Order: sequence, then C-alpha cells, then structure tokens
Amino acid sequence: MEKRESIHGQWSSRWVFVLAATGSAVGLGNIWKFPYITGENGGGAFVLVYLLCIAVIGVPTMMAEIMLGRRGRRSPINTMRHLAEEEGRNGAWKYLGWAGVAAGFLILSYYSVIAGWALAYFFRTAAGVFTGQTADGVGSIFSSLISDPERLITWHTIFMVMTTVVVARGVKGGLEKAVRYLMPALFILLIILVGYAMNTGAFQQGLEFLFTPNFDKITADGVLIAMGHAFFTLSLGMGAIMVYGSYLPQKASIAKTTVMIAIADTVVALLAGMAIFPIVFANGLEPGAGPGLIFQTLPIAFGQMPGGELFGSIFFMLLVFAAWSSAISLIEPMVAYQVENMGMNRIKAASWTGMTAWLLGLATVFSFNIWSEVKPLSMFETFADKTIFDLLDYLTSNIMLPLGGLLIALFAAWQMSRASSLDELAMKDGFFFKVWRVLIRYVTPVAVSIVFLNAIGLISIG
Ligand code: TRP
Repeated sequence: MEKRESIHGQWSSRWVFVLAATGSAVGLGNIWKFPYITGENGGGAFVLVYLLCIAVIGVPTMMAEIMLGRRGRRSPINTMRHLAEEEGRNGAWKYLGWAGVAAGFLILSYYSVIAGWALAYFFRTAAGVFTGQTADGVGSIFSSLISDPERLITWHTIFMVMTTVVVARGVKGGLEKAVRYLMPALFILLIILVGYAMNTGAFQQGLEFLFTPNFDKITADGVLIAMGHAFFTLSLGMGAIMVYGSYLPQKASIAKTTVMIAIADTVVALLAGMAIFPIVFANGLEPGAGPGLIFQTLPIAFGQMPGGELFGSIFFMLLVFAAWSSAISLIEPMVAYQVENMGMNRIKAASWTGMTAWLLGLATVFSFNIWSEVKPLSMFETFADKTIFDLLDYLTSNIMLPLGGLLIALFAAWQMSRASSLDELAMKDGFFFKVWRVLIRYVTPVAVSIVFLNAIGLISIG
C-alpha cells in the first residue's frame, strides 16, 4: 500500500504523539469529573466498574481509533468515508465522523465553562482568598461564583479564546513543550495533595470509600455512567484520538502507546480521588455534592497547608493547562475537516468553531444560576432533576461517546480486513494481536450493548 501522509503534517515522533494524546486524555475528566461522579455513585463499586471498562472497552477501542486515523490520514469524516470506500463498505460510515464532530462541539461548550471555574480559582488561590477558610466559607465562595452569570461568562470566554488560538496555530506547535513539563508537574502536585490528605485523619475512610466495592450502591444508570466516563476520560468515541492518530508516524506501535496513555490517565484520576475523599470526610462534607466537589474541597486543603497559596495557585494553573490540552482535541476534528473540504484556513476554521461552541456554552453558564430550575426532560424519571448542563453531559458522555466508540469498534473489527488491521497496527500476528481481535470483535461490542440495554430499562416516564 502507498504510505499516506496527512496534509496537516505529522508529529515529529511517536513520543510526541504519546504526549499529545495524554494531554487530550488527562483533563477535567480526571480531576473534576471522576471524583464527583464517584461520589454521586457510591464509591468503590463504581470505581471498579470504571477500571474494568478502561481495560476491556477503553484500551481496545483506543487502539482501533488510532489505527483508523493513521490509515485514513484525514479528518475523521474523510477518514471514515475513505476507509469505507477502500474496504468496499457502505459510504454512510462518514456520518460516524459527523456524529463525532457534533459530540465534540457539545462537550467543548460545557468543558470551557468548567475550565473557566479553574481559571477563576487560580486567581483566587493566588490572592489568598482561601487562607484560613472553613469548609463553609469555601462552600459559599463557590456558590457566589456559580450564581453570577457575568463572571462565569468572562472566564468561559477567556478559556474559549485560549483554545481557539492554539487550534488556529496548529495543535502540533506548542503542545509538545507544554505537555512534557506540565503533566509531570501536575502529577507532583497531586502527590503533595495526597500527602496532605494522609494527615487529615480521614485518609483511611477516603481509601475505603474509593476502593471497597459495595455493589448495593451501584445502579444500572451508575454502570452506564462508569462506562461513559471510560470513553470520556480517554477522549474516545468522537474522533479526537482518531485525528491525533492521523498525524502519527507510520512505524510507531499503536498498542504500546495506547497502554501508556491509559495508565497515565488512570493514575491521575485515582490520585485525584485519593486526595479529595479524605478531605470530604474529614470536613463532614457530602461525597455526592456534584460538579462543585473539587472546588469545595481542595481549597480547604490549600487554605490550611503551609505554602498553600503557592501550591494552590500552581495546582489550578496546571489544571487549566490540562483542560486546555484536552479542549483543543475536541475541535481539531472539525477544524481539520473545514480545512480539507471547505477551503478554509485554520484561523478562520478555528474561529468559527470556537465561536459556535462558546455560544452553546451559555446554556451551561445559565444552568448554574438563572436557569437552574429549567429541567427540560422532567417528564422522564431518570432525567427529572437534570439541568441543561446535566443533560448535555449525559447525552454526550453516556450516549454519544459509547455509541460512537461502539461503531468505531465495529468498523475496525468487522468492516476492515484482518490484513489491513495487522498492517496498520504494526504488530506481529501473535498472541497480543489475537487478544485484541477477540476483544474488539466480541467483548467490547457485547459489553457496550449490555450496559446500554440495561440502562434503557431505567428510562421510564414518571
Ligand atoms: N479526556 C478529556 C478529559 O478527561 C476530555 C476530552 C478531550 C474528551 N477530548 C475528548 C472527551 C474527546 C471525549 C472525547 O478531560
């Protein structure tokens, strides 16, 4: 086969791809979302299901997604169209690329709002706002932030501009340096936070909450949320990893890079959990507090520990960077498509895309204040108290990403020939390749389908 190259260029090495993909994977999902959904879903059993989903569904699907990207060497829409043609399959597969673009938009719209909170917290911590505060004080600082639409819009706007600027300049430029130094720094700060958590007197209780599975506490919906989060945290199911794969040099091993990314991502999430839950229990807070959880817990730690203003502001700055390197991957598929098919340059494409996602983000901003009582699907029991933000998150994480991931797995496993996969994964036809084939052909699709069917049983009109 002729070896293609993407018109958008290539990563300078496999290592840069690992950094970029890790930058995409590690973000708000690990530090903000994982702890709060774990808290809402009862802890240990939820964590166990999530870890299982990473191993059995996430890793094989990530390999499939990178493989398709590298073989297609185009934006996800064109990659799907082209590979379907090359393998003699139905042209409708390109709509999978479109669905991914839509999911990316929706996710970025709220992702940017939450990243804005982290940005606000960077300045607050640096200014010493949390020093010596009680849990109550920290809680009311958070409430006053989210109840003010103007402030939320300001931070959301700043973050969206940051994202658009990087995407406009091409994601390959500055990303490498940022991820190479800032990810390890984030890791060290999380260890410092875990160290603080060890001295709260509730470390044991926190660990038990996270790691002792109690299956009475998990529901069918909880299992769906755990699976959805496995896709979300690894950036799977919408073409972000596919488009990054399209810039991957030909010879790099997809299996090894995938395992590295999955491990790094999981470790960051577990460290965040180990830092947060001891603080929750030591201060008599509620693990199921929802999306504000880290903003109501970590500042307590920074307010009390020596050097907390410095550590705290560095922490929130690094969280912003982690969110930034994730956000850019959410619109890269769209921007690559606009450049390929609509004759736009990157600056114009990124500006349009960023502006549209920004506008949609206002719905999330208002979900926390003036629209906090707007519950559009209140006729369904499962969605009865979900705000627009909750619904956007549910629709994307728990429906669009797993469905996208399922279709990616099905395409890679059943539509692409065995020979093409073997060639593209650059693996030997041995044990590991056979394991991957079994996982992607049978285990992943069946597991995703069961979780879906199980959860559909839940959606009854109340
Ligand atoms: N994985 C990122 C996080 O955990 C978010 C993200 C970036 C994402 N790109 C994605 C989620 C693509 C789903 C699909 O914060």
